[in-house]
Amino acid sequence: MEIKILDTQKIDEEVANLFIETINNKPNCILGLATGSSPLGVYALLVKACKENKVSFKQVKTFNLDEYVGLDGNHNQSYRYFMNHNLFDHIDIDKNNTRVPSGLNMTNETAKQYDKEIEKAGGIDLQILGIGSNGHIAFNEPGTPLDSLTHIVTLDESTRKDNARFFNSIDEVPTHAVSMGLASIMKAKKIVLIATGPKKAKAIKALVEGDVTSSLPVSVLKNHPDATIYVDFEAASLLNK
Ligand code: GLP
Repeated sequence: MEIKILDTQKIDEEVANLFIETINNKPNCILGLATGSSPLGVYALLVKACKENKVSFKQVKTFNLDEYVGLDGNHNQSYRYFMNHNLFDHIDIDKNNTRVPSGLNMTNETAKQYDKEIEKAGGIDLQILGIGSNGHIAFNEPGTPLDSLTHIVTLDESTRKDNARFFNSIDEVPTHAVSMGLASIMKAKKIVLIATGPKKAKAIKALVEGDVTSSLPVSVLKNHPDATIYVDFEAASLLNK
């Protein structure tokens, strides 16, 4: 696992360029995508690059990490809506090639199909991740087994509080989500994680200074052969210099 400490703009540029290179080298590549504010700068740069004909998503397939249970894809806080609104509606991708796990009628049994679909497509070439303030990745909360596949999760109170800013009140934040598991994520050939802002500093310190443990889900990335963690100066502020 490599750590790169850069300013936010540079992080967005480097990660967007990595996506563009990956797609240009393999036009039918499989991308693993994330929601949240962390990847937004990258998505904006990808939209720009597509409009300038520097990259085409025509043959690309995408799989998203997670979705809230109970939210229909048209709900403005669903992750399907987020992806359409922030990326898919503005690039030349075929929406049939974009997958976000369904938040409706999902069981642990049907959730496993998601891993099979990814495998059938050839596996994820490049996965982008954010990080929760408690060290979660996707919606794998502390305590999630390192060998977990796609499953239904109960959201931590701290995660619901963090994400309440997007809803009218915390009561509206779903209590459950469907999420790719830690083992599902680890199958990606290459992983990049973006951690920006002071709220991520504690988790980044624990990641850099601690061992691999299910109490800090992000730490599993230490076992990945090609994972890069992009940290801005605020998120790196608690690291020993
Ligand atoms: C949610 C998502 C995660 C994301 C995290 C951080 O919990 N399920 O995939 O990494 O939020 O969000 P943000 O990037 O807005 O800080």
